[in-house]
Amino acid sequence: MSTKNFDVVVIGGGPGGYIAAIRAAQLGFNTACIDEWKNDKGGPAPGGTCTNVGCIPSKALLQSSEHYEQAAHHFADHGIGLDNLSIDVKKMLARKDTVVKQNNDGILYLFKKNKISFFHGRGSFVKAVEGGYEVAVAGAANDTLVGKQIVVATGSSARALPGVPFDEDKILSNDGALRVGAVPKKLGLIGAGVIGLEMGSVWRRLGAEVTVLEGLPTFLGAVDEQIAKEAHKAFTKQGLQIQLGVKVGEIKATKSGVSIAYTTAAGEAQTLAVDKLVVSIGRVPNTTGLNAEAVGLKLDERGAIVVDDECRTNLPGVWAVGDVVRGPMLAHKAEEEGVAVAERIAGQHGHVNFNTIPWVIYTSPEIAWVGQTEQQLKAAGRAYKAGTFPFMANGRARALGDTTGMVKFLADAATDEILGVHIVGPQASELIAEAVVAMEFKASSEDIARICHAHPSLSEATKEAALAVDKRTLNF
Ligand code: FAD
Ligand code: NAI
Repeated sequence: MSTKNFDVVVIGGGPGGYIAAIRAAQLGFNTACIDEWKNDKGGPAPGGTCTNVGCIPSKALLQSSEHYEQAAHHFADHGIGLDNLSIDVKKMLARKDTVVKQNNDGILYLFKKNKISFFHGRGSFVKAVEGGYEVAVAGAANDTLVGKQIVVATGSSARALPGVPFDEDKILSNDGALRVGAVPKKLGLIGAGVIGLEMGSVWRRLGAEVTVLEGLPTFLGAVDEQIAKEAHKAFTKQGLQIQLGVKVGEIKATKSGVSIAYTTAAGEAQTLAVDKLVVSIGRVPNTTGLNAEAVGLKLDERGAIVVDDECRTNLPGVWAVGDVVRGPMLAHKAEEEGVAVAERIAGQHGHVNFNTIPWVIYTSPEIAWVGQTEQQLKAAGRAYKAGTFPFMANGRARALGDTTGMVKFLADAATDEILGVHIVGPQASELIAEAVVAMEFKASSEDIARICHAHPSLSEATKEAALAVDKRTLNF
């Protein structure tokens, strides 16, 4: 078996890894990418968590279930009548699988287009060698690669509750939650975070009775309080049962489903019986199997790879990006880090602005934000001005029949620089991009207020919220 030499070897083909590999190849490096994800036929399925069991399939199911909800509850408002509405879950899942495969195939095409050598299998460190590191690939074929520079992008996996392993039949991680073959009558979720709310929404829209048990007493603690309150109101109205401040006790698989013992915030002992349980209590970095100890790669107590602000590990020439390092577990954060690392390897000044990474929760209404929340500004003692504008007063939102929520601006009291923008409402995921651009350019709220926005559009609510900072909304 001969050793194959590369300038850059990327371990992991999720958004952090495959994007790092593409940028490295664009910059002229002879690049390899190793990824072990298998499709149902055992073939390669690059794209990582995001493509296979994360961003892409969850958004496919959110779209399908949203169509169903519209047809079941809102088409009638438009004068559209439907008899015998039904949902074919198998077909919905097959469509989702097709979307995933299109993305897997797209990445394989991009590897070819950029002349990146792709290795399907598990990559692990063997040893440091003269001018680089040796990495073994264990897969369909066994290979030994030597990279002058190594980028680790091995991602993360769902965290299980202690003593409650995922069986992906009744006790589900995000993986099983995306493959439930029929609408459960009762679905339980532990953790009212991003996955709990997105997956809970999918199955509630399709008819499941959904209960979400959250350990913390506050709902979406990282979200601006005013926005979280509005979202909580909307989800509760839709029928999501969200219980806050609970303490989860014994969880048992029963003949018909799962029973969860828990104590409510008021201290009452309760048992919840459900057909399926999704445990969505956060994710853990993937470093087992990497053989980090062989080269002395430093991990923290959570198993995450320790990196500096520029994704450098403790080893010269070894970098790490995405979910396997500190920071938010988001696909676009992983991508930006991947690009920046490739550029740093090339001696350029790759840069990631952690203050302007947008967050989106793809529920209905969507929740999106960038920058600081009102509670963070208060805690930091920063003087600020706030402006909000409700979608209720936006003509396009009324025409869409979707007037829940608002846009909120937070700007520095003295300079008017935008410090945070928070949206709950229709198309928040798209609207937030304007705020990200504005903050990257250090715009003031007045800048947005003076820009011409198309009419009628939801983006007028953004302009109006910026005007509201100066207490001069035009339509409210
Ligand atoms: P990953 O995507 O996890 O990829 C790592 C890859 O490395 C995997 O393919 C893994 O098999 C492979 N690997 C691991 N170890 C090895 C090894 N030793 N050798 C070879 N290969 C290895 N983020 C968003 O921004 N927007 C969303 O809408 C969104 N939705 C999500 C929905 C769900 C249900 C979940 C679970 C996550 C979601 N995320 C979302 C988070 C997003 O998926 C992650 O932040 C993103 O995938 C991280 O990218 P990554 O490249 O760091 O890791
Ligand atoms: P999360 O961190 O978003 O939410 C976990 C929730 O579980 C928290 O509210 C936490 O307080 C609660 N929790 C933790 N332990 C608990 C316990 N023992 N009992 C009850 N509640 C408990 O994590 P989640 O939802 O698993 O998602 C993981 C990550 O994946 C997200 O943080 C995000 O980074 C990413 N993701 C991003 C999406 C997006 O961008 N739209 C969609 C889905 C996931």
